[in-house]
Amino acid sequence: MTTSSLLNPSVAELAQHVAEGLRKTPKALSSMYFYDDAGSRLFQQIMDLPEYYPTRAEFAIFREHGAALAAALSPGAGQAFSLVELGAGDGAKTKLLLRELLAAGTEFTYAPVDISSGAMAGLVDTLRRELPALRVAPVVEDYATALTQLRTWPGSKAVLFLGSNIGNFGPNERLNFLRQLAAPLAPADRLLIGFDLQKDPRRIRAAYDDAQGVTAAFNLNLLTRLNRELGADFDLAHWQHYTDYSPLTGAVRSFLVSTRAQQVRFAALDETVAFAAWEVIHTENSYKFTPAQIEALAAEAGLLVVQTFTDAAGDFADVVLAAQPD
Ligand code: AVI
Repeated sequence: MTTSSLLNPSVAELAQHVAEGLRKTPKALSSMYFYDDAGSRLFQQIMDLPEYYPTRAEFAIFREHGAALAAALSPGAGQAFSLVELGAGDGAKTKLLLRELLAAGTEFTYAPVDISSGAMAGLVDTLRRELPALRVAPVVEDYATALTQLRTWPGSKAVLFLGSNIGNFGPNERLNFLRQLAAPLAPADRLLIGFDLQKDPRRIRAAYDDAQGVTAAFNLNLLTRLNRELGADFDLAHWQHYTDYSPLTGAVRSFLVSTRAQQVRFAALDETVAFAAWEVIHTENSYKFTPAQIEALAAEAGLLVVQTFTDAAGDFADVVLAAQPD
């Protein structure tokens, strides 16, 4: 497949990804491309679903342990720092922490990082109205660029990566990402990472295959995006959402299943791709962790677990990490 140089950069990047991903066995596309406007709205709906427990569990942690979290992330009496949040979104959970830090009289600047300038404008606006005393330094960048900026970040910092986003990385990517986060940490700097914990496999699977079909719509929306942005002709009537969870690997895997033999034309790639009946496209991994795996992962990445906060049900963990001393 060839990609046209006339495509704008983000569409060209998507085209390249799709060309490569649909040549793999099994075919695979990154969940990174779920989040166009419609996908972001569907994800907001997912977070309110009765089956999708991770968001509520992490909220409970922030509500119950907000003051202790604020203390664990602050470098020490009177010392100023930046609170950097990767993938800030609507900042709903973080506002609980920001309120605690402000109430404690902590000297800090909140630096939310998000790739969406629209989401960032909304967040900054809300923060100005709701927390007028807060110093905000927004960063509209992707994770890779933000990681580079962390290397030269002035002063002390605490970096937040919440919402179990770490679970969407594969094992190698996850380790590399954590190593990149660990590298620029000074001794007083902290990371706070949200991990979804292993639990009743049926509850986990249900969270990714809800009764109202919102998660199915979220997964299938990727095909709608490819139809729009790459001039593809996926007929959504012949595709299904399917999810499995393996308690052995801790991975929820989501697939789009072709319910009949079919060919899909991609005008922007000048290519037609054949799908056999019941062939799948692997679209997402959502890993779930045990406390022992979190410890081991931290150690491998050059980090130490300083403190772990969980909700009362033990569904989710927000883990405070620091660089290992030399
Ligand atoms: C964004 N991420 C942490 C979500 C998750 O749980 O893996 C995305 C998601 N996919 C299906 N439901 C939610």
